[in-house]
Amino acid sequence: MNIPWWRDAVVYEIYVRSFADASGDGVGDLPGVRERLPYLRDLGVDAIWLTPFYPSPMADGGYDVADYRGVDPLFGTLADFEALVTDAHGLGLRVLVDIVPNHSSSEHAWFQAALRGDGRDRYVFRDRPNNWQSTFGGPAWTQVEDGQYYLHLFAPGQPDFNWRNPEVHAEFLDVLRFWLDRGVDGFRIDVAMGLYKAEGLPDVGDQSFTTSSPVWGQPEVHGVYRDWRRLLDAYPGERMAVGEVWTDSLEDLARYVRPDELHQSFNFAWLEAPWSPTAFRKVIDDTLSTVPFATWVLSNHDVVRHRTRYETADPGTGLARARAALLTMLALPGSAYLYQGEELGLPEVTDLPAEARQDPVFFQSEGKLPGRDGCRVPIPWTVDPPSHGFSPGGVEPWLPQPATFAELSVDKQEGDSDSTLEFYRRALAIRRDLLRRIPYTVEWLDSPEGVLFFTRGPLICAINCGTHAVPLPGHDSVLLASGPLRRGMLPPDTAVWLERGSQTG
Ligand code: GLC
Repeated sequence: MNIPWWRDAVVYEIYVRSFADASGDGVGDLPGVRERLPYLRDLGVDAIWLTPFYPSPMADGGYDVADYRGVDPLFGTLADFEALVTDAHGLGLRVLVDIVPNHSSSEHAWFQAALRGDGRDRYVFRDRPNNWQSTFGGPAWTQVEDGQYYLHLFAPGQPDFNWRNPEVHAEFLDVLRFWLDRGVDGFRIDVAMGLYKAEGLPDVGDQSFTTSSPVWGQPEVHGVYRDWRRLLDAYPGERMAVGEVWTDSLEDLARYVRPDELHQSFNFAWLEAPWSPTAFRKVIDDTLSTVPFATWVLSNHDVVRHRTRYETADPGTGLARARAALLTMLALPGSAYLYQGEELGLPEVTDLPAEARQDPVFFQSEGKLPGRDGCRVPIPWTVDPPSHGFSPGGVEPWLPQPATFAELSVDKQEGDSDSTLEFYRRALAIRRDLLRRIPYTVEWLDSPEGVLFFTRGPLICAINCGTHAVPLPGHDSVLLASGPLRRGMLPPDTAVWLERGSQTG
């Protein structure tokens, strides 16, 4: 059987603004990513996903696209992008780009024309607003000069497209072709359950990401992904698409992952699970029985970093749990999505001053919500201030890094076998080797309370979410542990990969 590359791929999310700055303006860019590709090859990932780098006024960090076929000068040029793809492919790394089809920027030529009264039907204009709220806070409608209102489920600078207009559909097929022709291996689809809104735009009681909501997940959206799939399949080299699909059940999620639709969807149920063996086991069982191609993710540019989510009053718990959850996730069948900086054990930066914050969530909630800047603080490459090697010379990065980033920098961790970076490198190298000989299934073993033991053929993964050390299950060798083992015992907040003779698998 031909196993497509993406089925078990480890994909590394690059939030371009915060990864590496080559131009020296304090903002990450494509040449910065290109310079660091060898680091990603050495880390052992299979693919990178680049967040939007298209021309944008940056009302939402680039998720407000003014031109879907270009590169913002802040991030480089189209030639920089092409060079990045060539280099990545040369190093054996695939490249996914972000596509933002639910809305454009208010600076997009179509929206500018719509404001002048030309082609308003490409967006959602109404004489009177309904009661929908923006996901970032406040009403989802903004009034224009002639009195009409336009819909924006996110920032006012992100008007929603009207996907009932065939011109929108045709335009996005063409945008996909543009990037496929430039060699991209696939797309991450932003707000993939958005796009269509219920006819008549009825008022809502509950606007959460429920499938029954008139705001999200209208059935017509599946037709879009069927057309996109046909296009992807027409290109050589197993091009793929992964959807950012927020749903309230895995059954709803699975509706997007079909042989004639998306290849994958992010599995936010795993990211949202509390530190609990019951919750972990349920998400694993439900995912594997419901979604044909599983994915796993713990952090991304929209959520509090998982090290901080797992923190307790006991210092050190967050990092120990983050490492244990990662090892568990990498043992599961399917593909894993990592977020830049988690391999360094970066925490959420929770004390950014208000004047440094840039996320529209902070502003639209009038400062009631901190927003997502805390997980977007630029990566520390070296110990040296002011930017820890993020920008050249003495340039300050676009978001301030805390002093603690020096100790967490790549330079500091490289070669230190106890570091989180070296732990990730070992885990990814062992995983690559294991994948050749383990089945795409999980079997549970009996385990003490608070602990999970599962096997995939010769691999046994154990994670201790309880409060006491427990004996390891029978094994022949220890492949890797997320923290120190104590005399054959698995301490709390620790996971381990063990190997046993394959005949017992
Ligand atoms: C997605 C992105 C997020 C963005 C939003 C609107 O959820 O991941 O960063 O703000 O879409 O485009």
